[in-house]
Amino acid sequence: MNAIYAENLVKKYGKNVAVNGLDLAVKEGELFSLLGVNGAGKSTTIKMLSALIRPDGGTAEIFGKDVVKNTAEVKAAMNVSPQESAVAANLTVWENLTFIAQIYGFSKAQAKGKAEKAVEWFSLEEVAGKRAKTLSGGYARRLSIAMALVSEPKLLFLDEPTLGLDVISRSALWKIIQGLKGKITVLLTTHYMEEAEALSDRIGIMVKGRMAATGTRDELVSAASAKDFTEAFINISNGDFSAKKAAF
Ligand SMILES: Nc1ncnc2c1ncn2[C@@H]1O[C@H](COP(=O)(O)OP(=O)(O)O)[C@@H](O)[C@H]1O
Ligand SMILES: [Mg+2]
Repeated sequence: MNAIYAENLVKKYGKNVAVNGLDLAVKEGELFSLLGVNGAGKSTTIKMLSALIRPDGGTAEIFGKDVVKNTAEVKAAMNVSPQESAVAANLTVWENLTFIAQIYGFSKAQAKGKAEKAVEWFSLEEVAGKRAKTLSGGYARRLSIAMALVSEPKLLFLDEPTLGLDVISRSALWKIIQGLKGKITVLLTTHYMEEAEALSDRIGIMVKGRMAATGTRDELVSAASAKDFTEAFINISNGDFSAKKAAF
């Protein structure tokens, strides 16, 4: 079954076509990385797929449910850790976790259990009593992802989860993301090539609002006649290869 299926998806902001006929299929259980230079349309795509904004054209389904017609089912099946943090700055880590669990309908006692589990899973013990606004980038991002997982989504969108993090924090987050592999479907965006290579089952490269190529890391390198994945990304982003060759 497809966790995500999008066909000819379009989003316009005035004259600016942010997403311009995007096709995408991600299978249940896959970890899919969406790459593309700034402005390629990655975040806009995630916002449409998570029913946050309405497409201007095309269709998208999450586990077979239409993002426009079946918004409630779509929202119940997935969650997002957005590029702009969704954490309440003045609440502590513990309060953020219990608060979000109660928003999802868990009782006080259940919310406490959820928060305990999240603190352990994401190694947040040290910072549990700290206000979110005082957290380092790595901890803030871990909290954001932990909060997104409280609703037990089958599909998680991670928009640039490791942006600006130091090597240690990034590696800690990679372990967490790797731990999700096979359990739930993950779509992440990143600017770090080595991150996409290390984590992904498949990779899609967006260019100017369209999916220019999708495939495994090796398939993309070969289709772009590149020596490594960075070169493949550059060739594909520059339109310097035949898109048909990489349409796996
Ligand atoms: N809320 C918005 N209003 C107007 N333009 C937007 C808005 N969000 C995104 N855009 C534009 O849409 C294009 C795609 O943006 P975005 O999806 O954020 O790209 P990415 O995440 O790949 O960097 C860019 O040209 C951006 O300026
Ligand atoms: Mg973005």
